[in-house]
Amino acid sequence: MKKLFILLCAILSLQSLWAQIVPKPQSENYSGGKFTITDKSCLVYDSSVRDVALYALEYMPFKQILSSSKVMPGDIQLTINRLLDEEQYRLTVTDKNITIAGGGYAGVFNGVQTLLQLLPANVFSKDAKFPLTVPCCTIDDSPKFSYRGFMLDVARTWIPTDKVKRYIDLMAYLKLNKLHFHLTDDEGWRIEIKSHPELATIGGFRGGDSPVFPRYGKFYEKWGGYYTQQELKDIVAYAAQRNIEVIPEIDMPGHSKALGAIYPEILCNYTPDGSRTNGLEIRNVWCAAKESNYSLIEDIIREVSEIFTSDYIHIGGDEVNMSQWRKCPDCQRLKAEKGLQNEKQIEDYFIARTTEILTKYGKKPAVWNEAIEGGTLPTTTRVHGWASIKKCLEATSKGYPTIIMPGHYFYFDMKQSASETGHNWAAIFDAKKVLSFNFESQGFTVAHLKSVAGIEASFFSEIYIAEHPEKSDYLDYMLFPRLTALSEVAWSHSRRSWEEFYSALKSAHYSRMDAMEVTYRLETPTVNYSNGAITASTTDGSTIYYIDLTSGKQSRYTKPITTTKPYNYEFYSRRGTGISKRTGSKEYYARLKPAVTVSSSIPCSSKTPMTNAAKYNNSIVRTTRAAKAGDWIEYRFAAPLHCREIEAMTGHIHLRRCCMMKGYIEVSYDGSNFVKVADFDVAGATIKPTEAIRALRIVATTTSDAEDQIVIQSLKIK
Ligand code: ACM
Ligand code: ZN
Repeated sequence: MKKLFILLCAILSLQSLWAQIVPKPQSENYSGGKFTITDKSCLVYDSSVRDVALYALEYMPFKQILSSSKVMPGDIQLTINRLLDEEQYRLTVTDKNITIAGGGYAGVFNGVQTLLQLLPANVFSKDAKFPLTVPCCTIDDSPKFSYRGFMLDVARTWIPTDKVKRYIDLMAYLKLNKLHFHLTDDEGWRIEIKSHPELATIGGFRGGDSPVFPRYGKFYEKWGGYYTQQELKDIVAYAAQRNIEVIPEIDMPGHSKALGAIYPEILCNYTPDGSRTNGLEIRNVWCAAKESNYSLIEDIIREVSEIFTSDYIHIGGDEVNMSQWRKCPDCQRLKAEKGLQNEKQIEDYFIARTTEILTKYGKKPAVWNEAIEGGTLPTTTRVHGWASIKKCLEATSKGYPTIIMPGHYFYFDMKQSASETGHNWAAIFDAKKVLSFNFESQGFTVAHLKSVAGIEASFFSEIYIAEHPEKSDYLDYMLFPRLTALSEVAWSHSRRSWEEFYSALKSAHYSRMDAMEVTYRLETPTVNYSNGAITASTTDGSTIYYIDLTSGKQSRYTKPITTTKPYNYEFYSRRGTGISKRTGSKEYYARLKPAVTVSSSIPCSSKTPMTNAAKYNNSIVRTTRAAKAGDWIEYRFAAPLHCREIEAMTGHIHLRRCCMMKGYIEVSYDGSNFVKVADFDVAGATIKPTEAIRALRIVATTTSDAEDQIVIQSLKIK
């Protein structure tokens, strides 16, 4: 009997292992046996969940679907059970039927997502054929947080409607239910406003002859797009069918450079000193004192309110450059008249005025965490805590319903390892760190937790534009599997350990992502060079390939590569549609660090002395103005330098910004005469010296972009 019991337990745990539902459900009981969906099976649904039935039909090719009909053996039923919470569901699979009962539309939809994961992975490519077998089970499930969000920045980099819909689908598979749609920012305005059409028709495009300046990437091309109101309504409906609410963000009063480029009259009342920016406008904040600005905001909010069904409109409030209000006589007069204590309270005033408009159109405000700093914002305002855990704790301790999204865990524009592209201001992290987020160990008490309204991941798209978004899979790679881990944090009451989660990915969920055609990130191969041979390995079952950098030829790695030049090889792995980053052996990446003296024709800021660029530790130098044609940066070595390669770049280390736009690299072999060795277009170039050099110069041939500085880095020498 005992043996039988152990065998039974083993079978049950094997079956639950086989199912590997992501995010992990609250309770799963596999009773043995199976149900088979066949061509004779009918999908029977309550009329209020007709749209869920139509959704299910896209994945499971039922020959018959019927509303409110009698359920026969072999049928699948989608039904409402008012005893359950709105998003809660019970999925019951017996050898006769499948029943999905949900508290509301959302619950039934969530149950369908779980059912899809009980089926072979190819249901996600929408080409599954009946018969399909499902293990008999009862799954009772409900979310930990009612707000499980993802913020997509379509302002910095334009993302067309079809692609947005694809990410809505990918969110739905993970039971994420809020799309925070960051529609406006300094670099673009993406929403049609019929009363002010130029906002989108001009503000939707940057570069070329557009007044919106091309920061970050695609510097010479007029590039972009915007959503018409009809397209947005279509996105809202598409998302709603998938249990996703779309919350639009119009980022104000800062982050408004694109808008200011079209309507300079919204900006504060002073002429900025353009000498440091080669004449370019850097004001990006709405003047808080102009009544006409509140009329324009009302025009915008009125139209936004009609497009989106969400109760909320996010109105920004982050990173307001308050020096603009300090310099504006009108804002200073407003401050005195209204008895405002400081500029942060000017922001409170601006948000209060905007909130009045929102209320008039039946909407509520959501804001970024800076907006509570003036101290007068009512606690009915929803706050998105992004800047740090501390800011999330501050907002929750003051009683603001807070969406927890600290960049250090949930900003998926952060790099996933040191040598990958992405931001790093908050942290460098992968899915494992996302899954490790834990309220208690971050200092959240029961009182704080009462104000936690949900969890959100985010992707700000500054860097994306430099990654050829029309043809690259960069966004997939940045989001997956980090977003998968986020869903487990936001949904699961008792989430898996990293080991269990990673095992679920490898044994089940990677195959689903293959069927979804997601270019998810695989672990980077471990590469070693010793005894004259390079070896490479992974632990995720992926296939390793290597590239011979001298010929560009790619081959499958099957055995150690014998070579005296390990730096001529790079490795990566693939598995289904997943891919790893490319890597070499440590020898290839070894950096030389010769003593160097750095000087420049552009003065540097006293806060970042020129010696920073000689430190080889990612310290940077900020100059006091942007570059002009003829400006140079010189690196002079203490002794002749022999090396394979020098990467000489300007601009932020992780971001093509604050850089010299066009120019060339010249080197000196004798310390006094220079010869040009490479031209560059944006930021700098990599050169391969053939003899020892004494000095190197980066020389600008055009004036730089919209910044008031450039950034000087250390050379990277191999
Ligand atoms: C933000 O990242 N500025 C909200
Ligand atoms: Zn002003």
